[in-house]
Amino acid sequence: MILGLGLESSCDETAASIIADGRCVLSNRISSQIDLHKAYNGVVPEIASRAHLEVINVLVDEALAEAKISFSDLKYVAATSHPGLVGSLLVAVQSAKAVACACDIPFIPVNHLEAHLHAATIEHEDLAYPYIGLLVSGGNTVLCLVHSVGDMRLLGRTSDDAVGEAYDKVSKLLGLGYPGGPVIDAIACTASVRKNIFPKLLVKYDDYSFSYSGLKTAVLTRLKEYPDSNAAEIAWAFQESALEILVRRTFAAARDYSVKKIVVAGGVASNSRLRELFAAEKTGDEKVYFPSPVLCTDNAAMVASLGYAYFMRGDNFALDTDVSARYTFTQAV
Ligand code: KG4
Repeated sequence: MILGLGLESSCDETAASIIADGRCVLSNRISSQIDLHKAYNGVVPEIASRAHLEVINVLVDEALAEAKISFSDLKYVAATSHPGLVGSLLVAVQSAKAVACACDIPFIPVNHLEAHLHAATIEHEDLAYPYIGLLVSGGNTVLCLVHSVGDMRLLGRTSDDAVGEAYDKVSKLLGLGYPGGPVIDAIACTASVRKNIFPKLLVKYDDYSFSYSGLKTAVLTRLKEYPDSNAAEIAWAFQESALEILVRRTFAAARDYSVKKIVVAGGVASNSRLRELFAAEKTGDEKVYFPSPVLCTDNAAMVASLGYAYFMRGDNFALDTDVSARYTFTQAV
């Protein structure tokens, strides 16, 4: 049995997980900073990195204890090294390097976006490459073609806000708090009047791009014009517009590239309506994989699992591998 430790601190969740053989999650500890950032309606990088530092060692100890193993049982340690908030990324990466050094095991830096998509492999043994990956979170809205471990080709991404960011901003406009996704997801189902009052986002059909700033402005304009609007009805209409483009573009990519497997991952992938829409749009033999909600939002099990794939491939990463705020995709042809 190959045991690995995964660490995650790229944004506002600190997490540590132990995985056996890349799939069996023995522990998955997550400490969320939501309460610290609530007052600012978004993540404050300096607060985030300090908070990661305070909890990471505790989480590692808890993860080892829950898995009933010790440092000497580990065969590798993986950490998210990019993309993300630099100060935050450093916490997991430096901790992982310390473990790698002390235990004399490989340190494996992983890509946060690839780890989110890879999370789907933990629970779905039949998921194989290639697949179309839709990554929808607070910081990313990316559609890509994933050929193999480390080989993700960009098909399209948002030209402005990420979809999760749009949820958070609309929630703020409606006075529903942060993070906006779960609360809009819940309140939208309660709308008694369900009217598409916002414009469709599918303006261009010839690419796989996304855009959310116009929809956010449409919500703002509507609320200025009708200040007594029903929050559930606005949430419902916003959500329908926000999600339709994701589903359409993803199935279009699957058809265009003749790829039958689709992975939807990231925080927004836990949305109940998004899951319904994907199920409803499926007409052929495509198969859509969603990680379960706890593996959709930031977690370290996905990091440990992807780390296992690199470990098994025998990749070597130097201990001076650095963190990076950005990640540049190879464009799909
Ligand atoms: O992947 P994630 O945990 O990390 C970041 O990108 O930080 O995603 C967080 C995002 C937030 O914008 C949150 O509002 C959104 O995911 N989110 C949701 C739901 N749960 C979380 N959006 C829509 N519906 C949900 N149920």
